[in-house]
Amino acid sequence: MRAPKILFLLWFSVWIVPGSAAAADSCVTCHAAIDDAVKGPAALIKNDVHIAHGLSCADCHGGDRTSDDPDVSMNKAKGFKGKPARATIPKFCAACHSSPDYMRKYAPRERVDQFELYQTSVHGKRLAAGDTAVATCIDCHSVHDIRAVKDSAAPVHPLRVGETCSRCHSDAAKMAPYKIPTNQFQEYKTSVHWEALSKRGDLSAPSCASCHGNHGAKPPQAESVSAVCGSCHVLFEQLYEKSVHNAVFSGAGGGGGCMVCHSNHAVHYPSTAMLAGPKAVCSGCHDAGTAPAGAATQMAGWLDGLDTALKKSETVLASAEQSGMEVSEAQVRLIDGRENLVKARLALHSMKPAEMQKPVEAGMAIAQATQKAGEFALHEKDTRRMGLAVSVLLIGIVILAIRLLLRRMESSS
Ligand code: HEC
Ligand code: HEC
Ligand code: HEC
Ligand code: HEC
Ligand code: HEC
Ligand code: HEC
Ligand code: HEC
Ligand code: HEC
Ligand code: HEC
Repeated sequence: MRAPKILFLLWFSVWIVPGSAAAADSCVTCHAAIDDAVKGPAALIKNDVHIAHGLSCADCHGGDRTSDDPDVSMNKAKGFKGKPARATIPKFCAACHSSPDYMRKYAPRERVDQFELYQTSVHGKRLAAGDTAVATCIDCHSVHDIRAVKDSAAPVHPLRVGETCSRCHSDAAKMAPYKIPTNQFQEYKTSVHWEALSKRGDLSAPSCASCHGNHGAKPPQAESVSAVCGSCHVLFEQLYEKSVHNAVFSGAGGGGGCMVCHSNHAVHYPSTAMLAGPKAVCSGCHDAGTAPAGAATQMAGWLDGLDTALKKSETVLASAEQSGMEVSEAQVRLIDGRENLVKARLALHSMKPAEMQKPVEAGMAIAQATQKAGEFALHEKDTRRMGLAVSVLLIGIVILAIRLLLRRMESSS
């Protein structure tokens, strides 16, 4: 991959400046030699994805790269644009990225709608209204050090994008004028999603951009929260949407759908503590003694009961296996049991206890059967041990008797 790119670069510079591959790019040469702030870009740019594709300073900034004379090379008459004003940056990048004809030559399958989407985002709308504190292309992608999005060093890589967004969204001073929370990244870092991404390298877990979009960044509307979560947790969304809660949670005021019980940024491992006990989310709306509160307690009891039974069975089977008994068949069945617990947790989202009862009962039957199999194996082991002990004892007695007999024969002879 590397070699063809370098060849391409060489070819490109020779093509641009016939006969002089060395003095190909006066912009780079002069800027690299300047000893102040304007040197920055020339030093950074070696890792830039644009350079890797044979582009250079003048492709973005305009000007004439064949002249060493700054009055010529950076002349407006030569198309020199200088440093773009902050409010014009999206358009500056869009000059190429929104042009299908141009982009097709480099990356035929790449999208060319970033600018179009950006204009629909909260960022883009505010920028258009003159607010330059919002994110423009370079706040998310950097500048002069722009990496391919798949590059793990890119600021938009799933493992890094949270930090990129938080440079503004966790900055209380920057966000003060807007009166929105600044805890999204802090909360997200406690979530199961961040754990899956960062600890297990599971790139299917969501980063900020998976839920908010990147170019069309805006919070999912309250009505669409369940659709955002449901883009990955499909079956949960299907059941939730048919439940009584769907209609009552997506009312005005925001923050509806799955968020009511799971939160948005701080999604944690769920447990029956959500259903019953002092931290139950249900008790916020359902007073003790009402039918829904009763349903919550019942569902918690079923889930805990099944979980306990499966764990007990697991322990018995493990100790049987450790003592050398063959219990693999029961262990395989236990996986089905666990599967029923997963199904029961899913069925909970219909908020109809009867829907949950089926997998709970099936799981319980498996837990009981496999526990019995384990206990039987352990019992079998005990009887075998007893049998062994008895035979050892008998053999001992026989040996003793033979010795006694021999001794008696000796003394009598
Ligand atoms: C012989 C040296 C030299 C050459 C050649 C040169 N530059 Fe510069 N450039 C400078 C210096 C010095 C400055 C800072 C002073 C200034 O703004 O004029 C500068 C400033 C800039 C700026 C910032 C302007 C602003 O509005 O703040 C940009 C962008 C830039 N150069 C791009 C280029 C590009 C693109 C080329 C090639 C087409 C190029 N330069 C060629 C020396 C050079
Ligand atoms: C992908 C497009 C792109 C390329 C390629 C590019 N620039 Fe820039 N450059 C920008 C943008 C956008 C800004 C405005 C950054 C900002 O507002 O902070 C900028 C700003 C600058 C500035 C002003 C820096 C400052 O802080 O005031 C200079 C100087 C500059 N570029 C020089 C160069 C040189 C030299 C090269 C080649 C080595 C180069 N640029 C390549 C897009 C580009
Ligand atoms: C709020 C942050 C943010 C802003 C603003 C932003 N981007 Fe992106 N951009 C991203 C993220 C995140 C990705 C990676 C998407 C992925 O992983 O699939 C991306 C991907 C891209 C890609 C790769 C192709 C694609 O569409 O997935 C290009 C090209 C791109 N952005 C250009 C731009 C341009 C041009 C602008 C300004 C008009 C811009 N971006 C503004 C965050 C941003
Ligand atoms: C002169 C045309 C041009 C300009 C202006 C330009 N780009 Fe690019 N950009 C390209 C080309 C060509 C590629 C390489 C093909 C590709 O992978 O998209 C590229 C690649 C990228 C990528 C990597 C996409 C990927 O596939 O991972 C990002 C991100 C990006 N540009 C962002 C920007 C941003 C931000 C700006 C404005 C500061 C900008 N570009 C300005 C032409 C341009
Ligand atoms: C350069 C600073 C900056 C960066 C970087 C940035 N944002 Fe923003 N963002 C803002 C500002 C300022 C607003 C306007 C706040 C408002 O209108 O409530 C905003 C608004 C938003 C909103 C709308 C909030 C609301 O309810 O009004 C969302 C969602 C958002 N940004 C997500 C993101 C994501 C996701 C990223 C990273 C991919 C990101 N932002 C990167 C500055 C930034
Ligand atoms: C699992 C999906 C998901 C992830 C991941 C996620 N968000 Fe959100 N975010 C939401 C939802 C849902 C809302 C609330 C929308 C509503 O109330 O209508 C929201 C709201 C917001 C808001 C509006 C202000 C607020 O707090 O209510 C901002 C800003 C924001 N998120 C930024 C981020 C940033 C930055 C990240 C990454 C660190 C991130 N989000 C990660 C789903 C997500
Ligand atoms: C981009 C895909 C994606 C999106 C969007 C998403 N999730 Fe997840 N979610 C995952 C992945 C992947 C896991 C980790 C699964 C695992 O490792 O068991 C996960 C785990 C979870 C878990 C823990 C599951 C367990 O086994 O204990 C809950 C609860 C959860 N997500 C709820 C939500 C909610 C609520 C939303 C919306 C606010 C949401 N998710 C949005 C992909 C996603
Ligand atoms: C009324 C509250 C409530 C709502 C609304 C809700 N959930 Fe849940 N969810 C729960 C409870 C309670 C559990 C955990 C039960 C347990 O583990 O004991 C759970 C568990 C989960 C799990 C983990 C399942 C497992 O196998 O560990 C996922 C994933 C999940 N929910 C996703 C969603 C999604 C996606 C939505 C929206 C479409 C949603 N939930 C809406 C209460 C809710
Ligand atoms: C934000 C408030 C809210 C939360 C939190 C909430 N519910 Fe509800 N729930 C409602 C409303 C409103 C209704 C419809 C009116 C009613 O039946 O009380 C409802 C209906 C129900 C019903 C249906 C009753 C029927 O007649 O069919 C059940 C069951 C139920 N909820 C269980 C739960 C459980 C279990 C939890 C916790 C995991 C929970 N709810 C959390 C507001 C809530």
